[in-house]
Amino acid sequence: MHFPSLSFAVLSVAGISHALPALGSGWPTLIPNTVVIDGYRLVEAKLRLDLGDHSLKSALKHLTAQADSWLSQGPWTVTAKATPPPNGTLHDYTSQAPYFWPNPNTPDGCPYINKDGVRNPEVDKYQDRVSVGKMFNSSYVLSLAWYYTGNPKYSKHASDILRTWFLDSATAMNPNLDHAQLIPCANSGRSIGIIDFSQEYTNVVDAVAILNTGAPGWTSADAKAFVSWNKRFLSWLADSPFGIQEASAQNNHGTFANMQIAALALFTGNHSLAVSQSQLAKSFINSQITANGSQPQELARTRSFHYSNFDLCAHLRFALIARKVGVDLFKYKGPQGQSLFKAVEFVIPAAAGGGSQWSYPELGFTQYAATDNVRAAAQEGDWMAARAVDGLVAPPGGDIFALRPAPEQLDSIATVG
Ligand SMILES: *[C@@H]1O[C@H](CO)[C@@H](O)[C@H](O)[C@H]1NC(C)=O
Ligand SMILES: *[C@@H]1O[C@H](CO)[C@@H](O)[C@H](O)[C@H]1NC(C)=O
Ligand SMILES: *[C@@H]1O[C@H](CO)[C@@H](O)[C@H](O)[C@H]1NC(C)=O
Ligand SMILES: *[C@@H]1O[C@H](CO)[C@@H](O)[C@H](O)[C@H]1NC(C)=O
Repeated sequence: MHFPSLSFAVLSVAGISHALPALGSGWPTLIPNTVVIDGYRLVEAKLRLDLGDHSLKSALKHLTAQADSWLSQGPWTVTAKATPPPNGTLHDYTSQAPYFWPNPNTPDGCPYINKDGVRNPEVDKYQDRVSVGKMFNSSYVLSLAWYYTGNPKYSKHASDILRTWFLDSATAMNPNLDHAQLIPCANSGRSIGIIDFSQEYTNVVDAVAILNTGAPGWTSADAKAFVSWNKRFLSWLADSPFGIQEASAQNNHGTFANMQIAALALFTGNHSLAVSQSQLAKSFINSQITANGSQPQELARTRSFHYSNFDLCAHLRFALIARKVGVDLFKYKGPQGQSLFKAVEFVIPAAAGGGSQWSYPELGFTQYAATDNVRAAAQEGDWMAARAVDGLVAPPGGDIFALRPAPEQLDSIATVG
């Protein structure tokens, strides 16, 4: 873990551009223009690997093992589902609220009734939710595997997956989430379904930014078409009634929705929107985090450790994005002294010491849920987080944070609602 540093600060832009030509072919000549990850950190990690850093070599083994497992899967498309959503087409992303069941006392099953926590298998008629999770993860891991190994099999498969989901006219998803988390009889989609995307979609944008550095299989026409898809998606997220409603939510839905808008604003070149969103992030720090770092809304839930980390993951990604437009949320302090580091420090005892160190409701304590958040805070200079890093638990599949230095929600997202 403790690599005697070639630190981030030492590798200035000039340093990198002087260093790269000496490294010969196989090296991307561009710094990835990633929106969440700091692109310089990718260049630095690649350089360290080339110099034989052992801790990164084991992370690379985990990364390529994950990437290899995706090579035989996908691509996926929203058009594979058997039925279009009510009032929509096969090209509209569709998911159904999993806990709503047909009413046993009415001939048509309407209105549906809520059995919280009991999953209705009928929702499987829309496979998009499952497919999109695979698309998110595979495109990210494959792009990273290409970046570090230079092996075109990874980038070609990532490109195929991305083109099929977003770009090929026969299979492309429409850039809206009008039909996410629908409840039959009651509606044909809900604003809260935006979280199907917002919890992970920025990984896809970073995957594309990595491929844009010259990956075999990904063309400049693909790159252009992907930006254009995201301009339309951003305008839906920022200006549609569902988008506006989700962004105004005061819990983790609002944090994720606004973080996603900031990411797409940065990616598509809408600078003023990226800046205003980054300023808005401060109001979420003020309202969601207390002076001692607790997140009362998330602590009130039955999976309070999971949800505290889930919301924190959105905050930390938001801070990485905001820094790129000159807003420093890592250093920001709210009126009562609230800060992102305080919120991370609140979860550190349990992240390093286990469930006995967490005294709030939690139906399924998973220690590694906090691992990436603590690593992200350590990376930004929080000394309590840095001291805790050696005691963290790696997720199944191995700790690859050093190779994709941005936080992931590492425990199951299946229970997130
Ligand atoms: C995607 O990755 C996340 C984080 O590592 C994991 O929790 C989730 O189960 C993965 N989903 C799929 C479909 O692979
Ligand atoms: C579909 O659209 C029609 C006409 O706009 C509307 O009356 C109907 O309620 C919609 N159906 C659903 C399930 O939203
Ligand atoms: C940025 O996004 C906002 C919200 O969609 C939009 O109103 C504005 O016109 C966009 N600006 C540019 C320069 O595209
Ligand atoms: C943290 O602060 C909140 C709000 O002031 C308070 O309710 C809570 O008891 C505090 N928790 C701890 C562990 O100090």
